[in-house]
Amino acid sequence: MKNILITGGAGFIGSHVVRLFVNKYTDYHIVNLDKLTYAGNLENLKDVENKSNYEFVKGDIVDGDFVEKLFDKYRFDGVIHLAAESHVDRSITNPMEFIFTNIVGTVNLLNAAKVLWSENPEGKRFYHISTDEVYGSLGENGIFTEETAYAPHSPYSASKASADHLVRAYHDTYGLPVVISNCSNNYGSYQFPEKLIPLFINNIKNNKPLPVYGKGINVRDWLFVEDHAAAIDIIFHKGKTGETYNIGGNNEWKNIDLIKKMCEIMDRKLGRKAGTSEKLITYVKDRAGHDLRYAIDSSKLQSELGWKPSLNFEEGLEKTIDWYLQNEKWLENVTSGDYKKYYEEQYGRQK
Ligand code: NAD
Ligand code: TYD
Repeated sequence: MKNILITGGAGFIGSHVVRLFVNKYTDYHIVNLDKLTYAGNLENLKDVENKSNYEFVKGDIVDGDFVEKLFDKYRFDGVIHLAAESHVDRSITNPMEFIFTNIVGTVNLLNAAKVLWSENPEGKRFYHISTDEVYGSLGENGIFTEETAYAPHSPYSASKASADHLVRAYHDTYGLPVVISNCSNNYGSYQFPEKLIPLFINNIKNNKPLPVYGKGINVRDWLFVEDHAAAIDIIFHKGKTGETYNIGGNNEWKNIDLIKKMCEIMDRKLGRKAGTSEKLITYVKDRAGHDLRYAIDSSKLQSELGWKPSLNFEEGLEKTIDWYLQNEKWLENVTSGDYKKYYEEQYGRQK
């Protein structure tokens, strides 16, 4: 029996990773540690909450004493660290939360693992989940490889870059058995509707304006969340200690093209006349420091560990839109309360 800690498991990607591990590795004991911020929601894991190899612990990774006691109690063999503040726009208005959770929280976990595994690091693994945004922004050409120098621009990406450096420092200095992956933009079910795809699905459904930042020419490389979870499974089990793996869908979309594609699919699904939802597109003030383009080279992961994306984008997008249309209650629950205040603050002043 292996004791595995997954942090941030009630968030978007974390919930998919918990679900995969709980169902696939019935001989592991999976502890999901999450603070349940606005982005964490136990509804995301309703289908596994009663499984005997699963346990939820509510707690804050910024609280070092708490983290140390948790490691002492469960004696984890492995850590998959996803807990983070994850939204760029929120990092622009409130950077400190990002510094605490993404940097201090990560160091608290590293310290606890270092103490626990100091005598025998054999077979142990600290897996830090990061983002391609640490590499900064590309122009029209080029691609991020594992060798690309870090050049983060937002407080979010700078805090993740900082955490990545600290994870590597604990490997190089203390011999902590770490592995890191940097993934491109994810989409799929259970994503909080502050990120582009679920936000726009929700707005199209409700006939609300679609706030396109700047000219809509920024490019993102989209990956289906279950393909990210599958990559995490492979890297956790087969990745080489001390290595970094890029994960991406080889699927670049200019924002405005993606938005028009979503409008087209939703017109069809909602029985609207073609072209109806596109009329909701509203160009608003650009995001400060908005990275122009991300594109990720995942050939190392593909050739060394045998991972590849399972879905093409249009299939994934259709599946995702269907999920949000079929899970109205979930959307309603997460967009009540504080969401309205966030929306007003973020988009009320954007016009
Ligand atoms: P999310 O915002 O949906 O979920 C984050 C989770 O972390 C939430 O459940 C939240 O409650 C929890 N959390 C936040 N602060 C915490 C704290 N102090 N203590 C304990 N738990 C805390 O994020 P996501 O999109 O699922 O991203 C997960 C990870 O993947 C992050 O590390 C992010 O940087 C990384 N990542 C995300 C993407 C993406 O496209 N979403 C892409 C690449 C990498
Ligand atoms: P987002 O989903 O926030 O991911 P990230 O900034 O981490 O890549 O945004 C994806 C792209 O969509 C990004 O270029 C910003 C843009 N965007 C908008 O144009 N309008 C919006 O309301 C949001 C949230 C994002």
